[in-house]
Amino acid sequence: MISLEVRAARHDYSVRIGEGLIQGLGALLVEHELRGRVAVVSDHHVLKAWQAKVVDALAAAQLSAEVLAVAPGEGSKSLATADALYGRLIASGFGRKDTLLTLGGGVVGDLGGFIAATYHRGMPMVQVPTTLLAQVDSSLGGKVAVNHAMGKNLIGAFYPPRLVVSDVETFSTLPTRERWNGLAEVSKAAFIGDTALLELLEAHLEAVAEGKAPTQVVLEIVDRAARLKARIVSEDEREEGARMYLNFGHTYAHALEAVTGYGPLSHGEAVVIGMRVAIRVSRKLGRLDPPSTDRILGLLGRFPRPSRLPSQPSVDRVLEALRRDKKAVGGKVRFVVLDGLCSPAVEGALTEALLREAAEWAVTEL
Ligand SMILES: NC(=O)c1ccc[n+]([C@@H]2O[C@H](COP(=O)([O-])OP(=O)(O)OC[C@H]3O[C@@H](n4cnc5c(N)ncnc54)[C@H](O)[C@@H]3O)[C@@H](O)[C@H]2O)c1
Ligand SMILES: [Zn+2]
Repeated sequence: MISLEVRAARHDYSVRIGEGLIQGLGALLVEHELRGRVAVVSDHHVLKAWQAKVVDALAAAQLSAEVLAVAPGEGSKSLATADALYGRLIASGFGRKDTLLTLGGGVVGDLGGFIAATYHRGMPMVQVPTTLLAQVDSSLGGKVAVNHAMGKNLIGAFYPPRLVVSDVETFSTLPTRERWNGLAEVSKAAFIGDTALLELLEAHLEAVAEGKAPTQVVLEIVDRAARLKARIVSEDEREEGARMYLNFGHTYAHALEAVTGYGPLSHGEAVVIGMRVAIRVSRKLGRLDPPSTDRILGLLGRFPRPSRLPSQPSVDRVLEALRRDKKAVGGKVRFVVLDGLCSPAVEGALTEALLREAAEWAVTEL
């Protein structure tokens, strides 16, 4: 079992990564002094495959569990769903000493985390991420949120979990498209900070996506990507400095997701396009050398292309969405470029002409 430590203002927490960890989940909670009742927030897809194993593992440590199921999908990351779950917690008498355990992908993690942050002014939360994206990204760093009709993740908090338990065995039931999604974020981690991870991806990308890679390889990939994120968020929990680098590829990705209505394009697909755009911008500014450019574009070229959209969004709409992004400061887009492999930098002064040209590149990738 791999163990990482993450620092956060409220409290530090450990991340355990391994194969078959769910079997010992109850014991891990007790080891972390979480002895109350456990509210398990999850979705129907995940519960179908993993509910029995999780409930049994908790029972084996004398922890009683109540399962709170939500519908799979981004639509559940809402105040309406949170409201319904608060009702269930109140009705069942959950209190501040009990534990909220999220079992699922980033949707369940963000929603459950938001509820844990706010119910009774905060109750202990354990994340059990079951997607590759959630294990390397959303379960780490303490950002929890629900969406608002006017934008994604607008209602939220920084609320660290007490423990993260990442069991790579859960990928055995994960659809291939979701593995590709996670691989987009893993690639981002490799480009901004880990060339050994890049080599692993170059050797095993398709095998990981198809669920055919050896467990040791999957473990090393999750470990390296999670370790990088853990290091960055430990240094900069509130995104005042290095955490911004994690937005590499995300500026245009968020804009494309917004203008296509968060449906046809998966987040990973949008991030792959966003990273290709960011690489071309870095190259155009003369910051990234040709061999690194080719190497990165080579890996990204191996990702499946998104399916055709019914209509292509206009460049103007992409630019509009870019400026509305909550990470733009005073309408200025802060854009992450690469000065080399593992050498990210924030460029706050891209010209209008370059922003437009990059939006044109983004749209033609669809
Ligand atoms: N908090 C953060 O720092 C952060 C970072 C990145 C992304 N996010 C958020 O994460 C969300 C996306 O997360 P995601 O990609 O994990 O999506 P998701 O939670 O929607 O999961 C993807 C799909 O896979 C299913 N699934 C999950 N685990 C499974 C398993 N083991 N077996 C079978 N099916 C399984 C789910 O039911 C769902 O249908 C977004 O809402 C995004 O905003 C948050
Ligand atoms: Zn992302």
